[in-house]
Amino acid sequence: MKKKLKLVLCLLLFVLFVFLLWNSSKIKFKKELELSLNRESYQKDIVSKVLNGKHLTENERIDTSSLGEKEVIVSFKTFYGLTKKYKVKVNVVDKESPTIKYQNTITTTKGKEIDLTKGVEVHDNSNEEISVAVEGEYDINKVGEYTLYYIAKDSSGNSTKEEFTLKVLSSSSSNETYFTTSKGFQGVVKDGATYIDGTLIVNKSYGLPSTFGSGLTNETTTAFKKLQSAALLDGLNIYIASGWRSYQKQVTLYNNYVARDGKEAADTYSARPGYSEHQSGFTFDVNEVSDKFIGTPEANWLSDNCYKYGFILRYPNGKQDITGFKYESWHFRYVGEELATKLYNNGDWLTLEEYFGIDSVYKD
Ligand code: DAL
Ligand code: ZN
Repeated sequence: MKKKLKLVLCLLLFVLFVFLLWNSSKIKFKKELELSLNRESYQKDIVSKVLNGKHLTENERIDTSSLGEKEVIVSFKTFYGLTKKYKVKVNVVDKESPTIKYQNTITTTKGKEIDLTKGVEVHDNSNEEISVAVEGEYDINKVGEYTLYYIAKDSSGNSTKEEFTLKVLSSSSSNETYFTTSKGFQGVVKDGATYIDGTLIVNKSYGLPSTFGSGLTNETTTAFKKLQSAALLDGLNIYIASGWRSYQKQVTLYNNYVARDGKEAADTYSARPGYSEHQSGFTFDVNEVSDKFIGTPEANWLSDNCYKYGFILRYPNGKQDITGFKYESWHFRYVGEELATKLYNNGDWLTLEEYFGIDSVYKD
């Protein structure tokens, strides 16, 4: 009798042992099964613990490309090597706030209404259109500085608020007119010359007064000397072939080209007087001013390195419809290292027109 009892007891203990082992194989999920919209998520991200077993599908991606509930099938191997499948419901939610790209200060003159959201860019993790509104009060007919806010909201109710300043200047005291480019940069026309975000712009749309300029600016000459020395260390001789040109000089040049090739052709490679960057004082042509310069070691070196000294290849290949001028491998423009590095764009040159969101076309 005692023996039997012992046997039953042993058996019971064994069953209990097996039961406990069986139950010790567990996968525990997180309390909140919420995932962010469009964030790269895997099954392991929704698991909090794996006990005596293996989560077989831990590296399986969970689709987070749309909002709402999703069913995820989780495969789990138990202590005994059996495969268990779980159906888990996750919820894809949008918790991220949009981001706003904007200018800190916008300037206008009294009475001149301005579209404050022009060129403001809003980004979000969702693909939906995000609204952007302006909050705060200002009076366009009253000179002053106004603190305003951009508010961007997505459809899940996440919002972002950013402060900016609107300056309203008196129209009589200022001979400056302000505008905003399609990319949201602030432009100002001052004494007939146009500056966008502080950079003087000369192209077919933005000309210079005939009296503008008197030679290359000091910063241009200083930066060129640095470039020239660096090139020399690499065994290359780079020199200025044509630097500053006066309005009058451009009259002669342009008229000669028109007489030789006709106006339409001349307009593709020579600027009309008042529209040549050479008059700005920030521009020069180097070495061989012709297509023979293309592909020479000097041209290649300049295209790869000029940005380090603040220069840009002003008329890159394939951008004639944007700059208004044919590819000029010899024509460089000083814009400073910061902007030059952005336009260098890792070797895929961007133009001033593309970067600032402006065109280059003659009005007549
Ligand atoms: N060759 C350039 C476009 C100029 O005339 O300024
Ligand atoms: Zn040139």
